[in-house]
Amino acid sequence: MTEVVHTPRVFSGIQPSGGLTLGNYLGAIKRFVDMQESGVETLYCMVDLHAITVWQDPADLRHNTRELAAGYIAAGLDPTKSILFNQSQVSAHAELGWIFNCVARMGWMKRMTQFKDKAGKNAENASLGLFGYPALMAADILIYHSTHVPVGEDQKQHLELTRDVATKFNHDFGVDFFPITEPVIEGAATRVMSLRDGSKKMSKSDPSDASRINMTDDAETIAKKIRKAKTDPDALPSEADGLKERHEARNLVNIFAALSDQSVDAVLADVGGKQFSEFKPMLVDLAVEKLSPISTEMARLMNDPAEIDRILGEGSNRARTIANPILQKTYDIVGMIRS
Ligand code: AMP
Ligand code: TRP
Repeated sequence: MTEVVHTPRVFSGIQPSGGLTLGNYLGAIKRFVDMQESGVETLYCMVDLHAITVWQDPADLRHNTRELAAGYIAAGLDPTKSILFNQSQVSAHAELGWIFNCVARMGWMKRMTQFKDKAGKNAENASLGLFGYPALMAADILIYHSTHVPVGEDQKQHLELTRDVATKFNHDFGVDFFPITEPVIEGAATRVMSLRDGSKKMSKSDPSDASRINMTDDAETIAKKIRKAKTDPDALPSEADGLKERHEARNLVNIFAALSDQSVDAVLADVGGKQFSEFKPMLVDLAVEKLSPISTEMARLMNDPAEIDRILGEGSNRARTIANPILQKTYDIVGMIRS
C-alpha cells in the first residue's frame, strides 16, 4: 500500500472547566500562537464535551467557555488566522468518538494516569465519559487528519493513545486513512509547577489559589503570588544542571525563560549567582508586563459575549467543512450505509 502523505494541520484543545492558569498559557496557548504565526493551518477548540466528564454547573460552563475563548484571543489567537470553536457545535467529534470507542480497548483506558488521578479512590462512581475521555480526544484530533498537536507534558500519554487508535483503525480496516499524529511538547515550560509545592503541577483545580497564577489575576495579585512563591535559600546556579534537585527554583527559572522567550541556559547565564531577593522582583516585572495586558483584554472581550458567540459559530462552520467529509469517508470505510 502506498503511504498517504498528510498536509500539516495543527489541532489542540483546552477544557472550559474553570479559569485559565499560567500553566495553560505557557504549556499550551502561547505555543498555539507560535504555531498560528508559522503559517500552517491551525484549529483550536474549547472542548466542552470533555469538560462535562466531571460535573459542570451549566451557567458556569457557558461562562467558562466564553472566558476561554476570550483568553485565546487576548493571548494572540486571531479568528481570521486560526479556526476557533467549541467542540459540541461540531457533531462529527462525538460521532467519530463513538467509532473510536469501538476501536480502543478497555485495557488501554485503564492504563491512563489522568483517569486514575481524576477518578481518585472512587473510580466506580466516575462517569463512563471520564473513562472513555481519551477516545473522544483521539477523535478531536483525527477528525481533521491533524498532524501536529501542541500540548503540555501531562497530555503525552493521551497522544500516544491517539496514535494507537489511528494505527489500529488503519490496520483493522486495511486502510492508510488516519495520520499518526506528532505531539509537540516543547519549550521551557511544558510542565509549570505549583508556586507552593514544586513537586505538584500548577492546576486550576488546586484548592489553594496562591498555588497558581490565573490569567484573570491583576498586576497586584500576580506580584503578590510571585513574592510569596516557595523557594530555597541558595543563590541561583549558572547552569541548568544546578537546578536538578531544586524543584521550586527550577520552576521559577522555567517560567522566566518561557515568558521572555529565552532558553533556561540563557536566563541562567544572566541571573546565575543572584539571590531570590533579587530574582523575584525581575520575575514580577516580567510576568506583569506579559500577563496583565492579556487579563485586561480578556475582561474587555467578556463585555461582549454576543461577539464571542459569533466567533465560535463562525469557527464551527469552518471546522465542519473539514470534519464532515472525513467523517463520511470514515463511515464508508466502516461499512455504514449513507443514502
Ligand atoms: P487543561 O486545562 O487540563 O484542559 O489543559 C489544557 C492544556 O494546558 C493542555 O495542553 C495541558 O497540557 C496544558 N497544561 C495544563 N496545566 C499545565 C501546566 N501546569 N504546565 C504546562 N502545561 C499545562
Ligand atoms: N485532554 C486535554 C487536557 O486536559 C484537552 C483536550 C481534549 C485536547 N481534546 C484534545 C488537547 C485534543 C489536545 C488535542 O488538557
